Amino acid sequence: CPTWAHPGAWDWIPTHLFRMLLLLLALYVASTEGITPNFQECLVLHSANGSTVTCYSPTVFPGSLPADTVHLSIEFSNLTQLPVAALWDVPDLVELHLSSNHLESLSSNVLLWVPRLRVLDLTGNALRSLPPGLFHASAALDTLVLKENRLHDLNTSSLQGLKALGHLDLSGNCLRSLPPQLLANLTSLRVLDLGNNLLESLPEDLLQGPLQLDRLHLEGNQLAVLGAKLLAPQGSLRYLFLNDNKVATVAAGAFQGLNQLDMLDLSNNSLASTPQGLWTSLGRPARDMGDGFDISHNPWICDSKLHDLYRWLDANRHKMFSQNETQCAGPKALKGQRLLALVGSQ
Ligand SMILES: *[C@@H]1O[C@H](CO)[C@@H](O)[C@H](O)[C@H]1NC(C)=O
Ligand SMILES: *[C@@H]1O[C@H](CO)[C@@H](O)[C@H](O)[C@H]1NC(C)=O
Ligand SMILES: *[C@@H]1O[C@H](CO)[C@@H](O)[C@H](O)[C@H]1NC(C)=O
Ligand SMILES: *[C@@H]1O[C@H](CO)[C@@H](O)[C@H](O)[C@H]1NC(C)=O
Ligand SMILES: *[C@@H]1O[C@H](CO)[C@@H](O)[C@H](O)[C@H]1NC(C)=O
Ligand SMILES: *[C@@H]1O[C@H](CO)[C@@H](O)[C@H](O)[C@H]1NC(C)=O
Repeated sequence: CPTWAHPGAWDWIPTHLFRMLLLLLALYVASTEGITPNFQECLVLHSANGSTVTCYSPTVFPGSLPADTVHLSIEFSNLTQLPVAALWDVPDLVELHLSSNHLESLSSNVLLWVPRLRVLDLTGNALRSLPPGLFHASAALDTLVLKENRLHDLNTSSLQGLKALGHLDLSGNCLRSLPPQLLANLTSLRVLDLGNNLLESLPEDLLQGPLQLDRLHLEGNQLAVLGAKLLAPQGSLRYLFLNDNKVATVAAGAFQGLNQLDMLDLSNNSLASTPQGLWTSLGRPARDMGDGFDISHNPWICDSKLHDLYRWLDANRHKMFSQNETQCAGPKALKGQRLLALVGSQ
């Protein structure tokens, strides 16, 4: 599992510079508008709706935040701990941005003080697990970003309490499997990102709770099989990313029910053929996919088993990405031939 906690120098510097410029600008505004930073390393902007606090490079969590703080950012700093009482004096907090720090763990009770929290961004820390009960008071949370941490496993109750979650990002962690009921109560989920983990399979009823998904990211895992049940309930799904996996087997009904799909990326998998009927619910003749599809970099065996795919490609070629990279791996006589060149010659 990769280490994400220390971004490479060239990734970091532009953002860092950008933030310094913003801070200088904000300080300038503050000096001309009579707003004063109230404690070292943090800048406070007051507004009718509450204070916005931006802290720059503290190594410990700042004390005495304004009681009306609604937005708090401490990013690209060296925070290693979030004290359990860190947020006790900011009950109106709506957004908490803690990306690119060195947090290794969180206390179960740290969010109990902030029941109005809607956005929590913990991108690029070193979290290995989530403590039980972390989200018990987080019924208002809409966006949870845990991207690029070191999460190894989650259990059934890890996300319990997140009644309003619309956007969940768990990408870039070390997850090998997920418990079946993990998302069961996340009925408002619209965006789910599980990309760039080590997932070898998914529980087939994983998506039986969130029935309104719009985007699903599964790219960059080790998935080998796509069953008939996983995606079946996703009638509003528009974007599906399955690229950079090891998918070799797809059930004939795997895409049935995906009748709003606008984008499908299946590139860089291990597909040699696809079963009869797989493609019927996607694209033409029913409708055009809004964006398109990519099935390149698969070891296609261009024999009679591909006829069903050829027919579908013929109707949907105007939505096909990476056409030149979608080639036969066999039989020998056709190796390197573009699939599209064979469409219609059947
Ligand atoms: C305060 O909140 C209202 C309603 O949410 C919003 O329309 C307004 O733009 C906000 N004002 C500031 C200064 O953020
Ligand atoms: C974080 O700590 C490291 C080593 O202690 C130091 O080199 C680096 O400048 C610190 N970064 C920030 C943003 O304070
Ligand atoms: C989930 O993990 C917590 C602590 O890690 C544990 O107390 C709890 O029993 C676990 N729940 C399940 C269902 O495994
Ligand atoms: C889902 O919600 C029900 C009812 O509130 C609760 O009993 C159950 O424990 C929840 N399951 C999970 C995995 O959060
Ligand atoms: C294919 O995916 C693997 C990871 O599964 C990645 O390392 C590789 O760079 C990808 N190849 C292409 C051509 O995108
Ligand atoms: C695809 O290949 C054809 C013929 O080899 C070439 O003319 C065309 O420019 C290529 N298209 C792309 C997008 O590379």
